[in-house]
Amino acid sequence: MLESGSVPTPHAEAHKFSKGLEGVVAAETALSLVDGERSRLLYRGISIHELAVNSTYEETVFLLWNGRLPRSTELSTFQKDLAAKRTISKEIIQFLKSLPKSAHPMAVLRSAISLLGAYDPEERKIDPDSIRDKAFSLIAKFPTLIAAFKRIREGAESIESDPQLSQAADFLYRMHGKKPEMEMERAMDAYLILLADHGLNASTFSARVTASTEADIYSAVTSAIGTLKGDLHGSANQRAMEMILDIGTPEKAEKYVKDLLAHKKKVMGFGHRIYKKEDPRATAFRGIAAKLCERSGEKKWMEISNIIEKTMWREKEIPCNVDFFSASVLYILGIPVDFFTTVFAASRVAGWTAHVMEQRLANKLIRPQAEYTGPLEELYIPMEKRK
Ligand SMILES: CC(C)(COP(=O)(O)OP(=O)(O)OC[C@H]1O[C@@H](n2cnc3c(N)ncnc32)[C@H](O)[C@@H]1OP(=O)(O)O)[C@@H](O)C(=O)NCCC(=O)NCCS
Repeated sequence: MLESGSVPTPHAEAHKFSKGLEGVVAAETALSLVDGERSRLLYRGISIHELAVNSTYEETVFLLWNGRLPRSTELSTFQKDLAAKRTISKEIIQFLKSLPKSAHPMAVLRSAISLLGAYDPEERKIDPDSIRDKAFSLIAKFPTLIAAFKRIREGAESIESDPQLSQAADFLYRMHGKKPEMEMERAMDAYLILLADHGLNASTFSARVTASTEADIYSAVTSAIGTLKGDLHGSANQRAMEMILDIGTPEKAEKYVKDLLAHKKKVMGFGHRIYKKEDPRATAFRGIAAKLCERSGEKKWMEISNIIEKTMWREKEIPCNVDFFSASVLYILGIPVDFFTTVFAASRVAGWTAHVMEQRLANKLIRPQAEYTGPLEELYIPMEKRK
């Protein structure tokens, strides 16, 4: 809206403003297709449902980065190389120990990734090979940083990575100090696969904007972590679980949701900019959560979740998103609730880094315009004359 007496700028007339960039196409990508019409998500053309059942996180990262599935020897080399990069330096461990135990794990992760850049003498290198090397190291180190801070917070010793274990199993091992059962490893792997990329979501957009200025990959990933931290994006998984725990029993679920809606509050883990009928990742997580809750004897969380979902659909026709049923999956996997978003980050770093590589291959500075709505031709009033 223009102030009276002001004139529209030429740009404002030429380009239509879209709040929240809704409906705006701001990049080209060959990485993932987010199809709201058909409620599907494809990585390099392959359905996430196929990948969640048949693939591993390592294979999915290879697929995103290379545009094709790996052959057997390629995959084992990829896994081995990734496992070899999991270690973090003494300085970084010392830094994690110096932080207040009350710090939010996402604040810790954001700072730690920035610090990895400060310790890399070749931080500024942004040629394709250097970016790929650094991306590799970042993906390997995310779980290490998260598990290390969790253990430090508990006053426990960090656990050395076991290079024989997959990224998913090693992460659970270092979080909890014991090797996970196969079903738990599979659930963790499915989580990492299903969250790995998602078109031009807000954090990926941040990463691409930062990369487009020719800043280094640590800066791009740090920007992305900061963006993921918000409740409307990645932190919705933490908020969704807090809500489920707060509800506590299935009988209280319907009223709880109705009260939130009556007070015009958002129900966390519901709604999506693109998926208006169904989020395909939520479909996958509904099944995984049901199995895990049944197996662990914690069916209550599923019962509460089902009532919340039904109530939201009946009252608002808003479907749940990726963060709703995945919250119960992380809970059953023993991840502390305030660490949920860091696990999201440990998966999405695959997409962030793939988008940074894609941006660099055909870079142009991302610099949109704002429609100016302030006054024009105001006079400068000297201090003594201001009222
Ligand atoms: C994700 C989200 C930001 C998408 O937002 P968007 O495309 O900008 O849509 P809006 O927030 O404008 O929502 C459109 C309408 O649906 C309502 N709505 C959307 N999500 C809702 C939710 N989770 N709970 C209650 N109402 C919701 C809005 O209040 C709005 O209603 P109105 O038109 O009466 O004002 C939004 O759905 C949300 O805040 N969800 C909760 C947080 C969350 O789970 N984030 C993770 C996303 S993967």
